[in-house]
Amino acid sequence: MKKQLYVNGEWKDTANFADLLSPYTKEVIAQIPQATEEEVNQAISVAYRTKEAMAQLTAYERAAILEQLTQLFIENRQKAAEIISLESAKPLKYALGEIDRTIETYKFAAEEAKRHTGEMIPMDAAKNGTNRFGYTIEQPVGVIGAITPFNFPQNLVAHKVGPAIAAGNPIVLKPASQTPLSALFLAELLDQTALPKGAFNVVTGSGKTVGDALVNSDLVKMITFTGSPAVGIGIRNKAGLKKVALELGSNAGLLIDRNVDLEEIIPKCVMGAFSNQGQVCISLQRAYVMEDLYDEFISAFKEATIKLVVGSPMDEATDLSAMIHPAEQVRALNWVEEAVEKGAEVITGGKIENGIFMPTILTNVDAAAKVSCQEVFAPIVIVNRISSIDDGITAINDSSYGLQAGIFTNDIKTAFKASEQLEVGGVMINDIPTYRVDQMPYGGVKESGTGKEGLKYAIQEMTETKLIVWNNN
Ligand code: SIN
Repeated sequence: MKKQLYVNGEWKDTANFADLLSPYTKEVIAQIPQATEEEVNQAISVAYRTKEAMAQLTAYERAAILEQLTQLFIENRQKAAEIISLESAKPLKYALGEIDRTIETYKFAAEEAKRHTGEMIPMDAAKNGTNRFGYTIEQPVGVIGAITPFNFPQNLVAHKVGPAIAAGNPIVLKPASQTPLSALFLAELLDQTALPKGAFNVVTGSGKTVGDALVNSDLVKMITFTGSPAVGIGIRNKAGLKKVALELGSNAGLLIDRNVDLEEIIPKCVMGAFSNQGQVCISLQRAYVMEDLYDEFISAFKEATIKLVVGSPMDEATDLSAMIHPAEQVRALNWVEEAVEKGAEVITGGKIENGIFMPTILTNVDAAAKVSCQEVFAPIVIVNRISSIDDGITAINDSSYGLQAGIFTNDIKTAFKASEQLEVGGVMINDIPTYRVDQMPYGGVKESGTGKEGLKYAIQEMTETKLIVWNNN
């Protein structure tokens, strides 16, 4: 029950613990160490001392470590998924899907470790460049402080640990307070690889103590964070000259044109709005449907939503379970009530049943209601009527966020217009905004963050480009 910190390749006791409760059963499932500032600084010093050993690993050796890790996840697929379901209430079928993605993420990291390289500079393109030979090399930045969220406790950790190892950097990981068990399981797996001891450390505890110590340390050269805009902006303000990559939230939008096949898109919309209880940064939160199709869409969407199996996350049949914390379910309920006060209609859901916030569809939602203009991070989707795609683009852009958006259309000009005009980091044509595979560049504009994930792009963020110029004159 009592867990330990993982520092310098060893399991370390601490004085203070916090109970970890299952979000579904509310039972205590583990006791999690609450590291002190001094313990975090010890882990950072250990990582710092491993810097040289990491930088000296060849691309072949870094790739081999990541391949070993991939293999260990393949062998432990079921166990890793059950840990996710236990600590986060993610339904098992989605947790298994997350582990399959984690396997791919580490595999991509292994492949990218072999590809990441500098470039030749055409020195003689400048008048003063004659007889010079220039090229760049990519060097690891140094200690990476990774702060990760609860919603993908393995795969969003993989998006930080994979590129950090591929680039030759040591890491100190602070997992979300609700999902430390997955991070500690990762430590068990990495411990079995050839990764130098001290290159990967897991420090659990409060955001205030552990997160602040990482951000404030001069030995940490980069913070990579996924979480809320408020915390992300706080990190950026405190980080000084550290590199900072921020993967923040969104209220992702989808446009549905008049000429699409509803039978094909409804299952995707249900998945986009309700998978992982809507606790996904690119969850489908706002759908804008052309008026000719609107009534038919609402009725088909409702019919598919009420068929979702709601229950225990450990049951393979379950589609939807409890949100991460009871207080979050109450917040979601308050936001629905606020939308209703502003004129919204509840098509289905809008209530908590047997401890689970039910999948909720709202229509006629005021753009100023929190469920529309803030990140809802709950199984709630709003569906509003539009009379033109231009109106839909304006509605989606009327947001402080901009991570991904989607459009279903059979009109090529409309698709091009949407891809040009939507103010987001990625536009999914004929798909939901929730679509993601792990090698693609992923990251937002506006309050959705800065920097890109996706292995190639994250490795770029985690290396420094150094220029070398030879003078042959
Ligand atoms: C996120 O919530 O930012 C990640 C979504 C995903 O990886 O599918």
